[in-house]
This record gives sequence, C-alpha cells and structure tokens, in this order.
Amino acid sequence: MDRIKIVGGGRLTGTIPISGAKNAALPLMIASMLTADRLTLKNVPNLADVNLLARILRNHGVDLAVDGKRSGGPSHLGETFHLTARDIVDTTAPYEMVSRMRASFWVLGPLIARMGIAKVSLPGGCAIGTRPVDLHLQGLKALGAEIDIDRGYVLAKAPKGLHGARIVFPKVSVGATHNVLLAAALAKGETLIENAAREPEVGDVADCLVKMGARIDGIGTSTLRIQGRDRLEGAVHTVLPDRIEAGTFAMAVAATGGDVMLAGARATDLTTALDAIRRTGVEITEADEGIRVARNGAALEPISIETQPFPGFPTDLQAQLMALMTRARGTSVIRETIFENRFMHVQELRRLGADIQLHGDTATIKGVRTLQGAPVMATDLRASVSLVIAALTAEGETTINRVYHLDRGFERLEEKLARCGADIERQSAG
Ligand code: EPZ
Repeated sequence: MDRIKIVGGGRLTGTIPISGAKNAALPLMIASMLTADRLTLKNVPNLADVNLLARILRNHGVDLAVDGKRSGGPSHLGETFHLTARDIVDTTAPYEMVSRMRASFWVLGPLIARMGIAKVSLPGGCAIGTRPVDLHLQGLKALGAEIDIDRGYVLAKAPKGLHGARIVFPKVSVGATHNVLLAAALAKGETLIENAAREPEVGDVADCLVKMGARIDGIGTSTLRIQGRDRLEGAVHTVLPDRIEAGTFAMAVAATGGDVMLAGARATDLTTALDAIRRTGVEITEADEGIRVARNGAALEPISIETQPFPGFPTDLQAQLMALMTRARGTSVIRETIFENRFMHVQELRRLGADIQLHGDTATIKGVRTLQGAPVMATDLRASVSLVIAALTAEGETTINRVYHLDRGFERLEEKLARCGADIERQSAG
C-alpha cells in the first residue's frame, strides 16, 4: 500500500491548478444514463472514484471513451469523457459496487426514469456517519416509483413511468436532490423540489440537464422547478472547478505561509470558507485567473465555525480547517452539524501534537506552537488531507498511510504541492 512522506516546515509558493470537481463529475457521469445520445464531459478529474464509477456505468451498458492525453499538454486540464448509454443492459447495481462508493446509489433515479425498473443495493455503513437514503426514496416515491426493500436491495419499478410531483425535503440532502433531479428530468410533467440542496455541484448537474433538453427554473436556489421531457438529448458540458480542492489548498497555504495562486478556482463557490480563512488573518484576493492566498509571517487568529449546507461552511472542509486551527494563536471551536461521526482526524492530529477536545458534535482546538511529525493514517478522504496540511507545518517527518483515501478525491496531490516547494513524496510499497 502506498504512503506519503512529508517533511514539514517549508512555505508554499507558486501556482496550483484546480481540477474538475469530483462531486460534480460523479452525478454528471450518471446523467449520461438518461439519454441514448452521447454526453461529452470535459475537465473530468482522474480520480479513483471517477474510475470506479466508470466501471459501474459500463456494467449498466454505458459506453465510455476517454480522449487520449495530449502529449506534452498540461495533464491538469482533466480528461474528456464521451458517455453513450444507447442501451441500458443491466438495471442492477450490486452491493460490491455501491458499498465501495455511495454516489453510485444515485443511478437509482435515472434507472427508474429511463427503464421503469431498478435494483440498487443499499449503500451500507460509512466511516463518517449513518448516512441513510430515506430522502432519496421519499422523493422517488413521490414521482410514482413503487419501492420495496428486500435483502439489502432497493427494488423499484414504475410500470407507467414517472410523473411530476411536489417534493418538500425535510432536510437538505445533496444526494437526494441529485437523485430526484435526474429522475424528474425524464418524468412526465412538472416537478417542484423544495428545500433542495444549493451546492454548486447540484447547479452544475442542472445546467447540464438543461443542455440535454430539460427545462429547469431556480438553479442555484432551494426551489427547483423541472419540466420533464419524454427524451433527453446528448450535450457537451465542462465540469466545474473543485471548490473543496481549492479550499483545501487555501488552508494548506494559510497553514504553512507563502503565496499561491489557485488557478481556475471560483471564489463564488467558496464564499463562507474564504471568509473564514480571511478571519484567521490570511490574505485572500479574487483575481480573473483564480484565488490568491498569501500569509507572510503574521500569526493565525483562532475562529469558530459550524458546518452547514451550502452556502454555509462545507463539512468537506471541516477537517482541513481543524488542521489549520491547531496552529492558531488561541482557542477555536468547530461544530460539525452534517455528519455525526466526522471527527476521525482528531485522534490522528493529536498524534502530531495537536490539542483538541471533543464534546459531542463540537471540537475545541487550542493552538499549539509546534506540531511534530509522526506516522498517521486516516479513514476518509477529507480526514486524510487534513493530516497532509498538519504534516506540512510539523517539525520533521510524517508518513501518511492508507493513501488510497486521498486518491479517491485529490488529483495528483503530491505533485501539485511539490511544485510549490513542499517536501512531499509518495512511497510505493511494492
Ligand atoms: C454529498 O454526500 C457529498 N458526496 C459529500 O462529500 C458531502 O460531505 C455531503 O454531500 C454534504 O455536503 C458527493 O457529492 C459524492 P447528504 P451525500 O445527502 O449526498 C442526511 C466527500 O468527502 N441524509 O447531503 O451523501 C445525511 O445522513 C463526500 O467528497 C438523510 O438523513 O450527503 C447527512 O446527515 C463525503 N437521509 C445529511 O443528510 C437521506 O436520505 C446530508 O447528507 C440522505 C441524507
């Protein structure tokens, strides 16, 4: 198993190109199941999760052609995927696949909408929380799907097709919004989704569905009005830049000090997180080419935040902010309101010398003068990258095990950081 070795202490200086967003690329790839025509996605990041979903979609019958890498070209521009679901040959998404990547559960909506039948495994447990799917099922039932649960599988059918409905989600869910939005695009009549997730990735999928022929009003708001179509067409769409990757690197620079341009990052997708970083005393400038982050010598001020659905502070940046706050001049408080068990990084940050107390959903972080390198490991993607941030500021060497978590969601992480001066290398355990 690969691991990453980091010797901390250096500043980060230069430019980091921001990749396409994992959490938009995944549902966009799934959207290809809604049409027999070709959906071309540009700027798809080369990630383990993307590759796994590609395999899952191939099982359903989606033909995927990837444009070859431009020789000598900047590989960070991402890949271009051509996805064609001329015939869906298999309407089952098996446990072995869905349990490895929860987002593959989102094939449920498109399968019922297009084929009138689907058998999709329940995702099962997850390291960061229980993560039920009741809201997905509530929404799809409202659209006319008949749903049974049998031996760990959701068995869904809609013999007469799906129809529009008014769905009021009692809680904001990104995944349930994606699932219902995708299905509603092929449902008969109008669907109204209230209390929809407003995450930019949802907007990106809606934009793509509009290009495919659906009519959607309210994109970017919590009320989506979708006029479904009998059939959708092919389209060409570019995956939006990854706000979580950009926020992660912004916090890395804030932690180490230095001056980095996050090329291609969109500040409008990161307002709350950038405000939080600014409050720590770090300089953030929005420019045409991206977001510039600079800290030169000034101490980090402690801050308090709680995670919230967009436009609030993202849960996917909570661990990274905690790593940053371990070095602040004072005590910070971070409350996690989205997932009940998303603090696995705490134990590992403590191994590096962090002073963090946990009480229920709240972490109290007392800034320390130094962290010391140590071997660490993490159990999810964002927790792992918080250890990278801490390691970059720690004295001496840190080895981060279970690098496959990072590979699920960060494209060429060590290369991007090394180009900005970080002492970081991947060690392949043969
Ligand atoms: C998406 O997960 C993201 N995943 C997550 O990113 C992200 O942390 C999360 O949204 C919140 O922003 C992808 O986009 C692939 P939710 P999702 O449904 O859709 C509860 C990462 O690191 N809920 O918005 O699964 C749920 O338990 C990942 O990239 C229900 O109660 O999250 C949670 O408390 C991790 N019933 C809250 O809603 C449901 O039916 C929000 O979850 C569905 C969700």
